[in-house]
Amino acid sequence: MSAPHRDFLDIRDFSRDELVSLFVLAERMRAGEYTARPLTGKALAMIFMKSSTRTRVSFEVGASQLGGTAHFLSPRDVQLGRGEPVSDTARVLARYVQGIMIRTFAHSDVELLAATADVPVINGLTDLSHPCQILADVLTIRQHLGGAHEGVPVAWIGDGNNMANSWIEAAQLLGFRLRLACPEGYDPDPAFLARARDAGADVQLLRDPRDAVAGARVVTTDVWASMGQEEEQAARIAAFAHFQVDATLMAQASPDAIFLHCLPAHRGEEVSADVIDGPQSRVWDEAENRLHIQKAIMAVLMGGERL
Ligand code: CP
Ligand code: NVA
Repeated sequence: MSAPHRDFLDIRDFSRDELVSLFVLAERMRAGEYTARPLTGKALAMIFMKSSTRTRVSFEVGASQLGGTAHFLSPRDVQLGRGEPVSDTARVLARYVQGIMIRTFAHSDVELLAATADVPVINGLTDLSHPCQILADVLTIRQHLGGAHEGVPVAWIGDGNNMANSWIEAAQLLGFRLRLACPEGYDPDPAFLARARDAGADVQLLRDPRDAVAGARVVTTDVWASMGQEEEQAARIAAFAHFQVDATLMAQASPDAIFLHCLPAHRGEEVSADVIDGPQSRVWDEAENRLHIQKAIMAVLMGGERL
């Protein structure tokens, strides 16, 4: 019998009102106005089947600031890497910890973990989605574009990858305009696009980056080859050659547009150095916001904080 708990596998696991409350809680945390330690005596297991800098450190530090502990588990250290089933790992971890964060390849593994573990499971990136990152990105939009996100025109340039899928879901849930420019053959997941269309979201898939950035107040992109696609790097460099966010493209967005990138970035590929290191870039605030939004998520899922 499962104890009542919530998972965060995708943005749609929260309602629109809950997402707004989550942003407000994260903003209080960023401002230093939240001093509770709702994770006192609690532990988060962090399973990383792929590399990470930001996700690992922000969850570790975030859990500690909320009074809890975080435990880093890599495939070299855990039996999951030697073939122990996800469901067995989930059952065991749930006897020790009060939450599990997982970064892995197959989204279905995270769904299986969530279905089996008797504690909240948080998606720290799969091949399909990266919801913690996109909530941090929307938090950055609120920080730099007047405190709200509704109606903001956002342009996604490049691969229709895990980030693009979560942007589509965020646009659907949170009511901003999203224009994605992806080369043919590199479209976002059709189910995410279909859900957004069925919900009447203002989301369009385009082929020309110039059409996507026209009037945008947020321009964002990501690597051309994600983790696990390293052997496709050469083919992808060719396919994405006209999809670099450079100063010429940024000049076609709104004059007050900000540039976002989840990082790590490849300067000279998906973004030019003058854009990511230039005055419109907010990538360091974006990285910082991972800490605040994930603390809000942990406080709610593991710490009993109400939305
Ligand atoms: N943006 C992001 O998730 O970074 P890491 O891969 O370093 O965790
Ligand atoms: N799309 C990238 C995001 C990294 C944070 C990847 O999956 O590798």
